[in-house]
Amino acid sequence: MNIVKVKDYQEMSAWASKQVIDKIKSSDQPVLGLATGSTPEGLYQDLIEAYKNHQVSFKNVTTFNLDEYVGLAADDPNSYNYFMNDKLFNHVDIDPSHTHLPNGVATDLEQECKDYEALIKNTGQIDLQILGIGINGHIGFNEPGSSFSDRTQIVKLVDSTIEANSRFFAHKEDVPTHAVTMGIKTIMESKEIILLASGESKAKAIKQLIEGEVTEDFPASILQQHPNATIVIDNAAASLLNA
Ligand code: PGA
Repeated sequence: MNIVKVKDYQEMSAWASKQVIDKIKSSDQPVLGLATGSTPEGLYQDLIEAYKNHQVSFKNVTTFNLDEYVGLAADDPNSYNYFMNDKLFNHVDIDPSHTHLPNGVATDLEQECKDYEALIKNTGQIDLQILGIGINGHIGFNEPGSSFSDRTQIVKLVDSTIEANSRFFAHKEDVPTHAVTMGIKTIMESKEIILLASGESKAKAIKQLIEGEVTEDFPASILQQHPNATIVIDNAAASLLNA
C-alpha cells in the first residue's frame, strides 16, 4: 500500500485528478470505478475544470459506481445516480450509456446485483477505482463484518453510517436502511485503487487502515493486500499516525 501525504483537501483532490486524467489518457477504453460522498467532490470539480480547459475528454470512458441506496430512484436528489449526474457526468462529454450505477429501485434487487457484477466482468477489469472510507472502515457500503469474498450485494447500513449520511437528508429517518454495493472482492479486482481521506474525522480510521491488522471487522484493511493501492491523506487525516 502506497501512502501519499498532502497538505489539505484541495491538494488531495488535485493529486487524485491528475491520476485519473493520466489513467484516462493511458488507455483507448479506460474503465473507472467511482465513489460518492463529500470526499471525491473536489476531485470531480477538478476533472470538470480539466475537461473545460481541453485537458481531458471522457468520450471513451466507462464508469462503474460503488453503490446506490435501495429505494431511491435515479431522479431522487439523494440518490447516488443523481449525485453523479449532478457532480460530474452532466458537465463532461461522457456517454451516459457508459456510466453505470446499481438501480436502487429494481423490482428484483438480487438479480440487479448479479447483473451489475456481470456488467463489470463483461466490460473487463476496472482500471482505477476511487474510494472514500467510512469512519468505521467501510468501503463502498461494505460495513464491518462483511466478508472479503463478497461480490455485489444488498446490505443493511449500520447506525453510524446512517447517522453520518443523515446530513444530506431532511430527517435521519429518511436515510434508506439498505443499499446495493459492489462487494469487497469486486473492489479488490480493480487493477489500481486510490483511497482518499481528508479531515480529522477520518484520522482514527486512517490509523487503523495503515497500522492495524487485516480483518473483516475493518473492511478497508484488505487494501493492505492489494498490489497497487494508494492511500492519499491530508495532514488532518494523517494526524494520529505513528510516523
Ligand atoms: P464521505 O463518505 O466521503 O462523505 O466522508 C465516505 C464513505 O462513507 O465512504
